[in-house]
Amino acid sequence: MPSVLITGSNGLLGQKLVYLLRERNAQSKNRYQIIACSRGINRITQKEGYTYLNLDITDSQAVSKVFTTYKPDVVINTAAITNVDQCETEPEACDAVNIHAVNYQIQALEKLQYDNPGYNPHFIHLSTDFVFDGQAGPYSESDQPNPISYYGHSKYKAELLVQQSKLNWAVVRTIIVYGVVDNLSRSNLVLWAKEALEKEQIIKVINDQYRAPTLAEDLAEGCMLIAEKKAQGIFNISSSKTYSILELVYLVAEYWNLNKELIQIVSSSTLNQPAKRPPRTGFVIDKAVNVLGFKPKTFKEGLALIDQQLNELNKKH
Ligand SMILES: NC(=O)c1ccc[n+]([C@@H]2O[C@H](COP(=O)([O-])OP(=O)(O)OC[C@H]3O[C@@H](n4cnc5c(N)ncnc54)[C@H](OP(=O)(O)O)[C@@H]3O)[C@@H](O)[C@H]2O)c1
Repeated sequence: MPSVLITGSNGLLGQKLVYLLRERNAQSKNRYQIIACSRGINRITQKEGYTYLNLDITDSQAVSKVFTTYKPDVVINTAAITNVDQCETEPEACDAVNIHAVNYQIQALEKLQYDNPGYNPHFIHLSTDFVFDGQAGPYSESDQPNPISYYGHSKYKAELLVQQSKLNWAVVRTIIVYGVVDNLSRSNLVLWAKEALEKEQIIKVINDQYRAPTLAEDLAEGCMLIAEKKAQGIFNISSSKTYSILELVYLVAEYWNLNKELIQIVSSSTLNQPAKRPPRTGFVIDKAVNVLGFKPKTFKEGLALIDQQLNELNKKH
């Protein structure tokens, strides 16, 4: 039975991956050994069907110990400092998680590979559209990165470490991930806009940045397609259509019938955020569609799924 180890399993993608693998196992019994790792206690509501380990990936010895114990066939590294402004203001913390900890994982797997002939782990690493400067989106996998924020630089440096490793590797680039799970440490565009508008709060929304939103379930599926097809190289995983952030928030307001007049249109420069953002990203996803059979949902289909999931969560609580 192949084993899949997920770092950052308390995060949005991490939780969705654990749920997706549990589903895969339910459909065809015991297909995967699932090892979910994150800092601190397990925040995933469902506790069965997988092993949870408290693993801070900045602890190189702990990483090596866990990898040596479990010898995972697949490692999906979702853990990261994903707050772009925090990376700008806390560069050392950003480097520790987004760069050095990636290196610890690579080194631990390379050593295991060297010591155990025939062991060929697949390292699947999550990256971002922020490796680009946003002057010429949508981007394909072969376009040249040119990050303009500390976060973007950190993720690009990690990409290069992965690409230079001796492992079977894949880099998964994605763009504003949205979705709902229990106990998230940070919100996302859809939930933020929905919750604020429901409380009748005025929100400032930018109309000069363009993104292709990514449903967390689609991203998890994209990662597992890569694992199952043992695919290597860089893959763009997002929806296929690029919108302005304003258009996305309008669509959220329309879907839940919320008051659009609360939306105050602003330009990025008025927000005075510490980190620069690329104005226009978006991805060409032909490679994922053709090589992996990736079929992302539209933004409206994604909102419908979130609506259904929120209703189910409300019934439980
Ligand atoms: N979210 C987006 O819009 C977006 C866009 C482009 C790319 N990405 C990339 O996609 C990946 C997944 O993103 P996401 O949305 O799932 O992010 P997320 O919800 O912020 O999850 C990241 C997880 O990593 C964990 N983590 C942070 N430092 C750690 C450490 N030292 N050891 C172990 N775990 C640690 C966090 O733990 P705590 O919960 O305890 O803080 C969090 O649960 C990231 O690599 C990110 O760079 C995300």
